[in-house]
Amino acid sequence: MDNFKFHAYTEILFGKDQIQQLPMVLAPYGKRVLLAYGSGSIKKNGIYQTIQNLLKDFELIDFPDIEPNPHLTSVERGAKLCRDHKIDVILAVGGGSVIDCSKVVAAATFYEGPAWDLVMDSSLITKALPIVTVLTMAGTGSEMNKGAVITNTETRMKKGTGAWVTIPRTSIMDPTYLMTLPEKQTAAGSADIFSHVLESYFKSTPDAYIQDKISEGILQTVIKYAPLALKEPHNYSARANLAWASSLALNGICGSGKNGSWSVHPIEHELSAYYDLTHGIGLAILTPSWMRHILNENTVDKFVDYGLNVWHLSPSSDKFLVANQAIDATEAFFKSLNIPMTLHEVGIDQSKFELMGKRAVELGGLHYAYVPLNLEDVVEILKACA
Ligand code: NZQ
Ligand code: ZN
Repeated sequence: MDNFKFHAYTEILFGKDQIQQLPMVLAPYGKRVLLAYGSGSIKKNGIYQTIQNLLKDFELIDFPDIEPNPHLTSVERGAKLCRDHKIDVILAVGGGSVIDCSKVVAAATFYEGPAWDLVMDSSLITKALPIVTVLTMAGTGSEMNKGAVITNTETRMKKGTGAWVTIPRTSIMDPTYLMTLPEKQTAAGSADIFSHVLESYFKSTPDAYIQDKISEGILQTVIKYAPLALKEPHNYSARANLAWASSLALNGICGSGKNGSWSVHPIEHELSAYYDLTHGIGLAILTPSWMRHILNENTVDKFVDYGLNVWHLSPSSDKFLVANQAIDATEAFFKSLNIPMTLHEVGIDQSKFELMGKRAVELGGLHYAYVPLNLEDVVEILKACA
């Protein structure tokens, strides 16, 4: 296991009606609250009104219209609001996009230069407004980590950043808030959780046994509850288990002590940068092809572990048989969530494969992935998804 720092910094208030604690949570930071949200789902499902009622004694400044795959322009808009209104705390109500945007807004408020600097160089993030979140979508884990992913639509660059000062102070996670998610977002979020775990599960660090066992448990949780959430959107157990899986998949519990770059996320970020694809859909499409691409004598044992422990496949002396069955099971699982499994189906042709591949290798450090990937590898993986 590699050395690591683990800091479970975010207070989680989990369960039905936990939002009642919001006034108490916000009070220590001050009265002026930036209320950040997306395109309006929180108005339709009543969360917005609940917050307005609860925060009557606070001064709320609306920061609406944060788009999925949040844009740099939204960060700039939010930072201006914070400065103009002397905001004390940001309340981010939504999924990963709203929370990510709020994190960079929190830092950009105190930064003199262009906000994009903070995305390109996270070491420039030294001070940020406090952030409190109300989670409405299980997937990214942004509610309990310091990461934020922002898209510069001028350069079509989507990149992650983050610092300890941008990690949410408190996240309120009421599983009933996830019940209004469209089927596509429930599936995409589940695929995202799954992929976060796989990104750290498939690492060559020896002796990270405890991380792997926790990871296998989270993967099995998603396999059990994602189909149930699709079938019964109001099933509390399904929503609760997916919500907590979302946080645990990417709060450091699975990934700490396992260095090296991720493999599939950097490629997906290029798809969503160029085509505004839903993040989890891109991951589901890419994952089986990436797995097939990296399966070899060196990696087969890890795939066998994955097949036996996660998918409960029958052991066999033919390791490659088990490994391929595990990959097929992964693909079948995503398909069962009604996720389109080719790039063609989501309107992506081959014209930008080279361009996206080059950027994924550079920005994602794919030379340091579990199995190092170069431009040719990425283009092959993309072609296999076409
Ligand atoms: O715009 P609103 O009204 O909020 O609607 C959203 C949006 O259209 C809707 N939605 C969310 N909760 C809902 C709901 N609709 C009805 N009822 C609810 N309860 O769902 C749509 C997608 O929301 P979004 O926030 O974009 O989804 P997600 O949580 O998947 O976030 C995706 C972004 O996070 C980044 C992705 O790259 C992408 O930009 N990621 C962030 C990470 C992190 N911070 O650690 C890691 C991830 O790997 C990922 O890269
Ligand atoms: Zn992700």
